[in-house]
Amino acid sequence: MPTTVFDLVIAANRLPVDRVEHPDGSVEWRRSPGGLVTAMQSVMQGREGAWVGWTGQAGDSAEGPFGHEGLHLRPVHLTQDDVAEYYEGFSNDTLWPIYHDVIVQATFHRTWWTAYERVNRRFAEAICEVAGPGALVWVHDYQLQLVPAMVRELRPDVRIGWFDHIPFPPVELFAQLPWRKRIIEGLLGADFLGFQRVADAKNFVRAARQLGGWTSRGDTVMVPTPDGGEHRTVRVSAVPISVDAKGLSELAQRPEVRARAVEIRESLGNPTTLLLGVDRLDYTKGIRHRLKAYEELLDDGRVAPPDVTFVQVATPSRERVDAYAQLGAEVEGTVGRINGNHSVLGSPAIHYLHHGYPREEMAALFQAADLMLVTPLRDGMNLVAKEYVACRNDAGGALVLSEFTGAYHELHQAFVCNPHDIEGLKQSIMRAIEMPDPQKRRIMRSLRRRVMEHDVQRWAERVLANLTGTG
Ligand code: ADP
Ligand code: F6P
Repeated sequence: MPTTVFDLVIAANRLPVDRVEHPDGSVEWRRSPGGLVTAMQSVMQGREGAWVGWTGQAGDSAEGPFGHEGLHLRPVHLTQDDVAEYYEGFSNDTLWPIYHDVIVQATFHRTWWTAYERVNRRFAEAICEVAGPGALVWVHDYQLQLVPAMVRELRPDVRIGWFDHIPFPPVELFAQLPWRKRIIEGLLGADFLGFQRVADAKNFVRAARQLGGWTSRGDTVMVPTPDGGEHRTVRVSAVPISVDAKGLSELAQRPEVRARAVEIRESLGNPTTLLLGVDRLDYTKGIRHRLKAYEELLDDGRVAPPDVTFVQVATPSRERVDAYAQLGAEVEGTVGRINGNHSVLGSPAIHYLHHGYPREEMAALFQAADLMLVTPLRDGMNLVAKEYVACRNDAGGALVLSEFTGAYHELHQAFVCNPHDIEGLKQSIMRAIEMPDPQKRRIMRSLRRRVMEHDVQRWAERVLANLTGTG
């Protein structure tokens, strides 16, 4: 049977659905939460689109293509070895540390690189199978950096864009990668490369010039064509991603979500100040620094339960990678020590929740929190910061935001901090706690204007306009 082809193909490491297996053995696919899925759905409106990605399951399962809520999904299968070497290994233990300022040491294994190439090729072949003539192919993130050139080789007729959700490192760090030139070549297979910040786009162009000898003019890199004819041009720009601001704002206004926000505060003993952290349990997120600052504020007697309490939600992530397992153990130990030293009966100093939650619960938590602590050491964007702002229809709350996030470049009116500077971080937290409400509301209103205007739909339109050459 001939394969159906599409005029828009999205490729990301993961499919936009999660596999749920029921006790009777039946399988159901549920839409994954998250802005990317929402953004892509708005892009797909009025187009026939396919999404190529991994199901999240390791092994030999052989799910064929299937439809879900109007999307054509084309699974890419990963064996146990692929997961260990391409996903946990090269993507998350080699590239992730290098792209995040080497907060932890990167690991280099040639076998991981081979797996990265092998899986990228599998993605490229799957894309070409479902891409119609002249299709738009939009590839996402650091796991798939070789895919643009691989697709171009197989299908010179399609237009290819790639978007980097994480930072792109300065050339001095990128240069550590033994496969640096191959990665640049892979990316330069695209027509358009999108980054979160201007600095990321510049880092890429510098790497292409210094490590590969490519020439550039402004935001355009010139790539020689194999026939030695005219250069092909690759546009490189900053297009910061955002959230479904209107959708979140509407969700936060639902009576049941508002009631839940009140209930959350009540269940915590109606503290005067509720601090909140929401992150994947990742060493880039600055959770250790945040806990240290909070512990010192407790030690100094500047905050204390039951007046002040802290809810830290930390979603399990990449648990088989050593640095993540170590972080998990360390955070649990610190939380235990803080609670042992500072909790009072019925009022823990910190509530540590190690699970994922539905969107409704997240929106309720955001509304319940007086202070949102976003303290990464490095983060491509940090969507949580924008989600918090989008959920504060009441213009209440305050955002403590690290300078090392992409979000900082749009939300610099927030209570800005350098998480490495524990004294400074403590001051930002105290300033946010102590500032009079009317002043805080003015700040929140200005943050909201930015987030509501520059939402994820606008981001997707901008990337598409760049990709089709109309932007
Ligand atoms: P990253 O992509 O590095 O995980 P972001 O802050 O950019 O960081 O995006 C994280 C996304 O995951 C946000 O949409 C956030 O709401 C969601 N998220 C984080 N923790 C949880 C959780 N415990 N339950 C549900 N969603 C979560
Ligand atoms: O934003 C970076 C990123 O790696 C995304 O590609 C991914 O969707 C998210 O973080 C969660 O990571 P993972 O897919 O490894 O659980």
